[in-house]
Amino acid sequence: MTQEKEKEKKVEPSKTVRVALGERSYSIHLGTGTLSSAGIAIAKVVKGKRAVVVTDKNVGRRYAKTLQDALDEAGFTTHRITVPAGDATKNLDQMQLLYDKMLRFGADRSTVVVALGGGMVGDLAGFLAASFLRGVPFIQVPTTVLSMVDASIGGKVGVNLPQGKNLVGAFHQPKLVWIDTATLKSLPERERAAGLAEVVKAGAIWDAEFFEMLEKTIDRALLLESDVLLPLLARSCAIKAEVVARDERESNLRMLLNFGHTMAHPVETLNKYEGILHGEAVAMGMVYAARRSEELELAPAGTASRIEKLLQRIDLPTELPKFPRKAYLDALGVDKKKLDAHIQFVVLREIGQAETRALSPEEIYPKS
Ligand SMILES: NC(=O)c1ccc[n+]([C@@H]2O[C@H](COP(=O)([O-])OP(=O)(O)OC[C@H]3O[C@@H](n4cnc5c(N)ncnc54)[C@H](O)[C@@H]3O)[C@@H](O)[C@H]2O)c1
Ligand SMILES: [Zn+2]
Repeated sequence: MTQEKEKEKKVEPSKTVRVALGERSYSIHLGTGTLSSAGIAIAKVVKGKRAVVVTDKNVGRRYAKTLQDALDEAGFTTHRITVPAGDATKNLDQMQLLYDKMLRFGADRSTVVVALGGGMVGDLAGFLAASFLRGVPFIQVPTTVLSMVDASIGGKVGVNLPQGKNLVGAFHQPKLVWIDTATLKSLPERERAAGLAEVVKAGAIWDAEFFEMLEKTIDRALLLESDVLLPLLARSCAIKAEVVARDERESNLRMLLNFGHTMAHPVETLNKYEGILHGEAVAMGMVYAARRSEELELAPAGTASRIEKLLQRIDLPTELPKFPRKAYLDALGVDKKKLDAHIQFVVLREIGQAETRALSPEEIYPKS
């Protein structure tokens, strides 16, 4: 092999997706083995020279050093804050601890907050960045499939309250999203699969060709082969980016991202958020919503089974758990007197095309 060729072979593919939000536009960069290049990329999009990396225990012990070294090399003075893993930590008590640490580090308005982790860290660090000194620059380095294709795009950040999930938050767009798919190697398989539910959702609501691509390449993507994984993640990011960008002008569009979520939320609530991952509930909810779309004669026969087959190949559950009908209706927020009230439900017209319909709880969850 010539030296030239050898060099060519070593160049890993990378992709950039632009999120078009006017002055707040930013790039999502996807690559493999690129964590050590994050520092230079971050230095290009922020002015300050201080960085605080917020991470959780599982992610921090594996990847924080590489990221901090990269930031140091790019001229930043860096600090690290490690929070316990899991959504239970995404709360205001934790925020108070984060504010204390920021002050102790002497953080100012130009200090950049870098979220290194899954959606939990992204939401928490993002809310820190949105609120500390009324807002400091923010960078996302997502390390789960879910946070790569979903949580890190769109600028929603926030924390949970004892009364419910994500009840306090803000919109704070990152300056850059830096995705290194090599970090997914250490992500538990079940978490990987759950994140892929949102990738399937992107295809189902928006892009039939992409859905076909998923059908063709999902087995190799599950093995984390970057030549198929990168384009899949990139397309999925691009779909969310497109929806988010267009929603600034077109209302309702962002609601399409709720496909599968109307029934996923009751499943999560009824399970008390234990023993079930969000993506698993979404998988069940998508098959359910696709079946309802067929039964209401909105989508052609076979639509739901295509989605179901794809999800099963990812090893995701596709049947709603058997809670009493009343429990589902209650969790949907329907009280007895309002059985004819309507809920915006995302239906499919075909693979790649979704729309919202105002349906009654009876239509969403008919008596069997
Ligand atoms: N802001 C948004 O638009 C948005 C959208 C969807 C979800 N969310 C939020 O995202 C959160 C869920 O995100 P998530 O599914 O990424 O979960 P998570 O951040 O809790 O991560 C899941 C688990 O995987 C571990 N982990 C993460 N990356 C790893 C890696 N590379 N190797 C090994 N372990 C790793 C974490 O420590 C954690 O234990 C929820 O809080 C949810 O509310 C936000
Ligand atoms: Zn979701």
